[in-house]
Amino acid sequence: MEVVRSVAEMREIVAGWRKVGESVSLVPTMGALHDGHMSLVHAVSEKADRSIASIFVNPTQFSPSEDFAVYPRDEARDLSMLEAAGVDLVFTPEMTQMYREGHRTKVEVQELSQLLEGETRPHFFIGVATVVAKLLIQAMPDIAIFGEKDYQQLCVIRSMARDLDLPVEILGGATVRESDGLAMSSRNTYLTNAERTLAPRLHHEITSVATRVAKGDPIEIACKDAANELDSAGFNAVDYVAVRDAETLEPATGGRPMRVLAAAWLGKTRLIDNVAV
Ligand code: PAF
Repeated sequence: MEVVRSVAEMREIVAGWRKVGESVSLVPTMGALHDGHMSLVHAVSEKADRSIASIFVNPTQFSPSEDFAVYPRDEARDLSMLEAAGVDLVFTPEMTQMYREGHRTKVEVQELSQLLEGETRPHFFIGVATVVAKLLIQAMPDIAIFGEKDYQQLCVIRSMARDLDLPVEILGGATVRESDGLAMSSRNTYLTNAERTLAPRLHHEITSVATRVAKGDPIEIACKDAANELDSAGFNAVDYVAVRDAETLEPATGGRPMRVLAAAWLGKTRLIDNVAV
């Protein structure tokens, strides 16, 4: 496995693969890898001849009050997991490779970026769309995969790649869960033991919303009940429980696939999750 820190080195290796007609996949990550990331690595390994994983904790998707400084980082562990999974190249760019002095360009997917997560984290999807656009242009993979755990992020990236005519197929990978239903996330390490015990309630409640809505219960009541349940269970705040159109994330209108999405706080940790109706 090659580990490279500059765009030029990555492009040279990818050009060598392209010369002999090999296809390329990319799994962008911020490191602190868990089984959710590894399922994405395995999902694309059969779909392309060569695989790249990137590790970059992207500062532009964190607000000044968020956890950039303390975001879990363990490069040695990440690299050994990627090597064991048979990844060909790991791109762990220096900060100056991604954001040079005088970097002024931002990529914004309008509307999709402003709702749900965008209401409480207005900076977030601009940071994500910008860094992912850069990674896709730097590596020029045939396919790139993102976890459905961050469902709105997946919708934003799909839209960005389509709008910018990036020649890449964007795939979504199913959320990997702990045995009690909690969606795997690098941020789960922030949870105290008591919070960890409560955390699976989020998945439980959104699953119940999905079941009720599928049976024809009114969306608004199902969402309100779930938010109240989370509140009484001991969640500190519920940012939203919503049922939306699975593609546009606009309020669901019926006759189209729907998704239940939620974000709620346990102590200082903000958990998000989603399921299909
Ligand atoms: O989901 C993540 O880990 C990040 O948002 C991503 C897509 C790697 C962009 O920094």
